[in-house]
Amino acid sequence: MTHVIGVVGGDGIGPEVVAEGLKVLSAAGVETDAVAYDLGGARYLRDGTVLPDEVLEEWRGLDALYLGAVGTPDVPPGVIERGLLLRMRFELDLYVNRRPFRASDGGFEFEVIRENTEGAYAGEGGFLRRNTPQEVATQGSVNTRFGVERCVRYAFELARSRPGRHLTLVHKTNVLTFAGDLWQRAFNEVAGEYPEVATAYNHVDAACIYFVEDPKSYDVIVTDNLFGDILTDLGGAVAGGIGLAASANLNPDRTGPSMFEPVHGSAPDIVGTGRANPTAAILSAAMMAEFLGEADAAARIRAACGDPAARQGTTAEIGDAIAERV
Ligand code: IPM
Ligand code: MN
Repeated sequence: MTHVIGVVGGDGIGPEVVAEGLKVLSAAGVETDAVAYDLGGARYLRDGTVLPDEVLEEWRGLDALYLGAVGTPDVPPGVIERGLLLRMRFELDLYVNRRPFRASDGGFEFEVIRENTEGAYAGEGGFLRRNTPQEVATQGSVNTRFGVERCVRYAFELARSRPGRHLTLVHKTNVLTFAGDLWQRAFNEVAGEYPEVATAYNHVDAACIYFVEDPKSYDVIVTDNLFGDILTDLGGAVAGGIGLAASANLNPDRTGPSMFEPVHGSAPDIVGTGRANPTAAILSAAMMAEFLGEADAAARIRAACGDPAARQGTTAEIGDAIAERV
């Protein structure tokens, strides 16, 4: 079966790592019909295009989206991030951002479920008296019972399917007493439906310590959008580097395509040097294959990525070595 995939290579090293992901998918026998979309900071600088409505509508009919990285230093902050990446997450209702972490020495393996459509990312807020000495900026965090609960439920389902059967809520309930209270109550209520899953709670600052000092204590973590953003960079760092960290932006209800991308950014400083590690993008492609029903190919890709012999070399050499092993 051929899967129709929209591919946004994006900026910087994005197109370089995505090319390796597509190479490995094909070597693993996953048949794709890849439709390329020229979007990102470079395109915006050329003609002002961020994400045309027609493109978004076209995407709704695809099986999946595969993205490299977006963002260029010459574009003002937020234009591409909000206008392309967050618009994708919000409009396609990709409400779960799933980010697995696995130590290369096998010492730990856990997954972060990051809420992906609300929180501080929602865009609530504004200016008053901008550019005056009395200026005010607010940026609220939006937490709906519906949005929190569906994310928490996904995390419980995932935790139940794993041998560890353990789920940790990460928040900051001692200070964020409104949002934290809603999260805690939603978590506790959904927990009642999953008696077989053991639960825990960590404040986000303490979770940062445990990520570094005792990552093996985690199985599945669920957290809000901004905490999840920060924690998953830390997760990448403790699990062998951000060049290995994969992610899936999921629409679990499958009312449209899900989107798969490495956690890392566009790294404009190393573009064209062959120094970008494509493993995160390749592992994201494996998550895509799995979501598309190609569990066997996904497992072979993950195993190949774990082979120490496939870890050295340039971007294309690593991609070739992984492709040879799937
Ligand atoms: C990520 C990225 C994005 C985010 C940026 C590029 C908007 O850091 O996917 O983690 O903050 O979600
Ligand atoms: Mn991030």
